[in-house]
Amino acid sequence: MKIGAPTETVKGESRVAMTPDSAVHLQKLGHECFIEGGAGKSAGFSDAAYEAVGVTIVSSRAELFSGVDIVVKVRPPDAKELRQFSQGQTLISFFYPAANESLMQKAAAAGVTTVAMDMVPRISRAQKMDALSSMANIAGYRAIIEAGNNFGRFFTGQVTAAGKVQPAKVLVIGAGVAGLAAIGTATSLGAITLAFDVRPEVAEQIESMGAEFVFLEFEEEQQDGASTGGYAAPSSPEFREKQLEKFRELAPEVDIVITTALIPNQDAPVLWTKDMVAAMQPGSVIVDLAAERGGNCELTEEDKKIVTDNDVTIIGYTDFPSRMATQASSLFATNIRHVIADLTPNKDGTIVHNMEDDVIRGATVTHAKEITFPPPPPKVSAIAAQPKAALARELSPAEKREQEAAAFRAQTFKQVALLASGAILVLAAGLVAPASFMQHFIVFVLSVFVGLQVIWNVAHSLHTPLMAVTNAISSIIILGALIQIGSSSVLISILAAAGVLMAAINIFGGFLVTRRMLAMFQKS
Ligand code: NAI
Repeated sequence: MKIGAPTETVKGESRVAMTPDSAVHLQKLGHECFIEGGAGKSAGFSDAAYEAVGVTIVSSRAELFSGVDIVVKVRPPDAKELRQFSQGQTLISFFYPAANESLMQKAAAAGVTTVAMDMVPRISRAQKMDALSSMANIAGYRAIIEAGNNFGRFFTGQVTAAGKVQPAKVLVIGAGVAGLAAIGTATSLGAITLAFDVRPEVAEQIESMGAEFVFLEFEEEQQDGASTGGYAAPSSPEFREKQLEKFRELAPEVDIVITTALIPNQDAPVLWTKDMVAAMQPGSVIVDLAAERGGNCELTEEDKKIVTDNDVTIIGYTDFPSRMATQASSLFATNIRHVIADLTPNKDGTIVHNMEDDVIRGATVTHAKEITFPPPPPKVSAIAAQPKAALARELSPAEKREQEAAAFRAQTFKQVALLASGAILVLAAGLVAPASFMQHFIVFVLSVFVGLQVIWNVAHSLHTPLMAVTNAISSIIILGALIQIGSSSVLISILAAAGVLMAAINIFGGFLVTRRMLAMFQKS
């Protein structure tokens, strides 16, 4: 099949749907690649780079549309562009079918098969085709960079000769793909990061990234992600009120707010209201990633940056991925070539549009002159469908103090008991044993105590590398035991032999475990 990518016509769009790298893979599937001259320029890919990998450069747009079987694009086509398609052609691009009803009807009437990249279901197998996620990942990262650019302070705290700088406090609302990328970027820059999401299952992910989950004390029957295709379900008005109450409390203390809350095919919920903006400190920044769907902040203006009377900057850009066009094009083109790989099961350049395939069915919105949107729910469960872990209740400061004191008491009791029993043992032995034995015995008891204290607090995950290191200690034990093994006392010989045996187990066991660990990092 002939696959072609035209130049994007939407103003400010710098991405391109085919890169030299993706073209190489498409050709391996048996397809021929075409690109409109200059289409990759704003994403940093020259015509020469395409030509070098065997892509044909087409000088006119009309020639491209009439000459190929599959058109790959980033943005949905407009009505004029759609007229350039002919029956039997396939379009693969973002399409947003729920918001583009008439465009979808026109595509169906024209006999165009439309594969909407935004409709790829969020199931494990389709992750490599999930362009919404790859673009949201970029948007989340860029949102923090953009916020930093408009924020007059460091993200990280510093203590300098000239004074102390407080770290910035970042609140991320909505911890989906974009939100998690924003959390990762903010924490890596050193900011104190808080995050909130209606899906409690993301609390663990948030915390594993070094951020703090904003806990809301509210019992609500949550639907799991599977029933909603891996997305959140709308929350009740009572829950929303509780949520706003919490945000109102946080507004004066956060410096940067990144909002990404969205439920597909719905307007973005308003979660950061005017009074919260008014309560923020001058110089604070809000980046509203949901600006395209009305925004999570009440004052967001789409595609604009505004500064309020109290000097809060609100950014409502909707083109974050395009602001990192090279990276975004590479990821988007890779997503597209994986979709095409799915459509080319025999790798022979022939398209098989299998409507039984969950991913292809889900993403296809028009086919054989029919509108095939909305698709049935995928047969396999969504990625988010994980058993719900019970969330630990947030403790009050008094409860926390009480818990810490109890832990301290228990620890102290354990240590005192250990020391007391050690002392009794030494005294009892001292009554009967000779002085030379006692000297060695006390050294032995102390080594055991110190060794235990050192090793006891090592995390379980480090036990294996620790075992490899203890080989050195075991070697010393073996040396000592070998010196003693020929002793005239049978008891000493037996103890020495047991010492050699146990240390040998430790050494060879250590070697085996280390070997297995190294094998995990070696290419097969
Ligand atoms: P996602 O669906 O993975 O994440 C959205 C998150 O919001 C989910 O975790 C959901 O549980 C949460 N959520 C929904 N309602 C909520 C509520 N009331 N309170 C708190 N959390 C709530 O979506 P993804 O892919 O991360 O995208 C996030 C947003 O970023 C979308 O609005 C998307 O359109 C936008 N986006 C914007 C771009 C730009 O250039 N401005 C580029 C790419 C994406």
